[in-house]
Amino acid sequence: MRSLLLALFVVQLHAVLLPGPPGPYSVSNQVHSLTDTSRQDPYAPSNNTHNRRIMVSTFVPVSKCQDCQSTQLPYMPPKSTAAWGQYAAQMGLPTNIVEDFQVEYCQTSKPAPKKYPVAIFSPGLTSSRLVYTVQARALASLGYVVITVDHPYDGFFVEFPDGTSVQGVVPFSPTDAEADAATEVRAADVSFLVNVLQGSAPGASLPAELIESSDLNKIFAYGHSMGGATAAEAALLDNRVLGGLDLDGRPWAKSAKTGSDRPFVIVGSEANDALWAPYYQRFTGPKMQVSIKGSTHLSFFDLPYLFGVRPLPAEYDEVLEQLGGTIKGARLQEIALAFIQGFAELVLNGKTEPLRGLNTTFPEVLVGEEDLSG
Ligand SMILES: *[C@@H]1O[C@H](CO)[C@@H](O)[C@H](O)[C@H]1NC(C)=O
Ligand SMILES: *[C@@H]1O[C@H](CO)[C@@H](O)[C@H](O)[C@H]1NC(C)=O
Repeated sequence: MRSLLLALFVVQLHAVLLPGPPGPYSVSNQVHSLTDTSRQDPYAPSNNTHNRRIMVSTFVPVSKCQDCQSTQLPYMPPKSTAAWGQYAAQMGLPTNIVEDFQVEYCQTSKPAPKKYPVAIFSPGLTSSRLVYTVQARALASLGYVVITVDHPYDGFFVEFPDGTSVQGVVPFSPTDAEADAATEVRAADVSFLVNVLQGSAPGASLPAELIESSDLNKIFAYGHSMGGATAAEAALLDNRVLGGLDLDGRPWAKSAKTGSDRPFVIVGSEANDALWAPYYQRFTGPKMQVSIKGSTHLSFFDLPYLFGVRPLPAEYDEVLEQLGGTIKGARLQEIALAFIQGFAELVLNGKTEPLRGLNTTFPEVLVGEEDLSG
């Protein structure tokens, strides 16, 4: 048995091409660093002050009629892969868990033949946009321009295209004041990104074809954990962000204190179900709160999905179940994606049926509260 496991482990070292995304579109991908000249970075060390800089990945739908270049890219750039290896080791997992995964894109530098709604994603506190790549590409394949954001000094490791990197300074377990402050910085990062999309951020730009492919009247935000709080906060503070979908995060900052009248949906893990009630009550717009049976907080990362594609040896089963719950990674991805799409239908088109139907489609979905008519 032991030798079989070892043999499996050797096989794991070979590159694995991840399955293609579920939707009708191929997806084109780019990464960009964007500097906000209107803000000093509040986290920068005092002997090295600088403007706030964020990293983004863009995922743009590519239709069958468009020319594009099929390209396989590594799941993460090299320094991030090493940093996540260290992180995995702390959780009792092998250090090479995110190595050698390839993601297929169809790259194009031409604008799409139509404009797509824009979904802005914010990751969990201290985490990285990179571990939500499978979800972002899947959403783009359904016809959304998806932009995932890294918040430097909050993410434990943010790698820039010039090879430099920023280590996190926000603690894994922040005080309430630190969590409020982080949420405010993150929401300002989201508003800055919207400025860039609108061409109103001096000195910062994204490629013209990306802007031409984006419907800037149809922007919403989603995020995991503190990224979900960020989505709610950005929707509250910036009326260009039409709503915030929260994957297993409690609100922080202003939206936690005053609530919000913007559309708000919480898709929580089973473990956190009791956490939402006091915050949920303060939201007065169309809203819904559900939990997913068998899920944990970490289920919403790509990692459980990756382990489904390239299984770890059975000796890791127990730790994986503790971390990611009993639900399969691919199933969680499918459910989360259906909620993001349903939320988009609510926010952009005023349709409530797609969200209402999801507990019938997915028996794992438990509806806690629901008031989608607002
Ligand atoms: C800033 O100070 C820290 C700690 O004293 C030091 O390690 C670092 O090299 C300094 N950075 C610069 C840009 O001077
Ligand atoms: C789905 O949720 C609604 C409440 O929003 C509830 O009335 C209905 O019974 C649920 N359906 C299933 C199949 O659980």
